[in-house]
Amino acid sequence: MLTTFGRTTDFIVHRKDLSQCKFVSAEIETDLKPGQVLLKVDKFALTANNISYALIGEALGYWDFFPVAEKTWGRIPAWGFAEVVRSKKDSVVEGDRVFGFVPMSTNFILQPDAVSQEGFIDTSPHRSKFSPLYNQYQLLKHNPLYVPEHEDLWALFWPLFMSAFVLSEFLNENNFFGAQAILISSASSKTAIGLAFLLSQKRSSECQVIGLTSSGNLSSVENLGYYSQVLTYDQMQLLPNNLSLVYVDIAGDGDVLSNLYYYFHNIRYSCLLGATHRKRRSSLEINSMLPDPRPIFFFAPEEIQKRVQQLGVNDFHKSFGHSWSQFLLSISQWIQIVSGTGKIIVEKTYLDILAGYLRPNQGYMLSLNSELGCPKLTAKG
Ligand SMILES: NC(=O)c1ccc[n+]([C@@H]2O[C@H](COP(=O)([O-])OP(=O)(O)OC[C@H]3O[C@@H](n4cnc5c(N)ncnc54)[C@H](OP(=O)(O)O)[C@@H]3O)[C@@H](O)[C@H]2O)c1
Repeated sequence: MLTTFGRTTDFIVHRKDLSQCKFVSAEIETDLKPGQVLLKVDKFALTANNISYALIGEALGYWDFFPVAEKTWGRIPAWGFAEVVRSKKDSVVEGDRVFGFVPMSTNFILQPDAVSQEGFIDTSPHRSKFSPLYNQYQLLKHNPLYVPEHEDLWALFWPLFMSAFVLSEFLNENNFFGAQAILISSASSKTAIGLAFLLSQKRSSECQVIGLTSSGNLSSVENLGYYSQVLTYDQMQLLPNNLSLVYVDIAGDGDVLSNLYYYFHNIRYSCLLGATHRKRRSSLEINSMLPDPRPIFFFAPEEIQKRVQQLGVNDFHKSFGHSWSQFLLSISQWIQIVSGTGKIIVEKTYLDILAGYLRPNQGYMLSLNSELGCPKLTAKG
């Protein structure tokens, strides 16, 4: 007979209609297989990035990280912190705290291998098809970059900032394609903010970093001070149409993209990164109708792998760590962390983020493991 270790709660969403969501609960078996560990999810960040994981979940397999019994439903992966509560793996002990991909759940099971001071890889068979980046878990007790007080900023920004970091390196290496401006849509997103910060440090004084955002987010993005100029989507025509530019498409908005290609005559490079404007015609839909240079999809996990192979893990992390520390100092002045615990808060926050009702200078950290057992939402910073 199996022994059980309390109950797990999972937040699941309908794969074909992301506005349908619910909680399911099951008993947690403590009879782990040899090599497995059971973790308690302490907290996770929720941003538009997670919604994008769900949107491309079928195409790129994001639903398969944390499978659920009902096939039409799924758990969206999130970046967060978890603690080992049971271990059948020698080198991973109860109480170890890790950072990595977690489900929006109270608990989950991993099968660690290649354990080192830095962390381990999950080798659960259903995850073997994914980029190693997504299967890596950082063990925090020996991590020199880990500062417990920065956990929330870490979960909210670290993966997005690393994507921005490799994109900025790519642009830098290509001498910004000789452009006078880097134009970034969804300038209020955390990914764009990280990129604007990095470009503001690196770019030559002749190359401007211009943000495009919604009118409601304009002043907040201007206050960051990372962009040379911030415009709303309908103010693009204030720029000269012969401006040579690189377009970084984080909104994934096909209408913005087609206006841009219609208006500007000197696009030097165009890359598609995100899809925050999920209710609009997507950039992918109009890609084939555009003149050259057509947008090229930039997939950060692949680029990170490439750079790690080129530089070696240590050198890559050294140069990333330097930029990351500077960014943390700067962004902590601007962002307000909103922490929420419990089912009601998790569901409401998810639906708000899905609908785009979030302030750019707020970052949501959530948990289903509530010691108090009652829902609460608190802001700090
Ligand atoms: N390709 C890659 O490898 C890669 C890597 C990292 C991130 N990304 C993608 O980059 C995107 C940004 O992610 P993030 O987590 O940084 O975003 P975030 O911080 O949550 O950004 C939210 C912003 O997106 C826009 N937005 C969000 N929901 C919306 C809605 N329902 N309707 C209209 N606008 C909405 C708004 O920006 P505006 O008002 O400024 O438009 C909002 O301020 C995601 O699509 C993510 O998957 C891709």
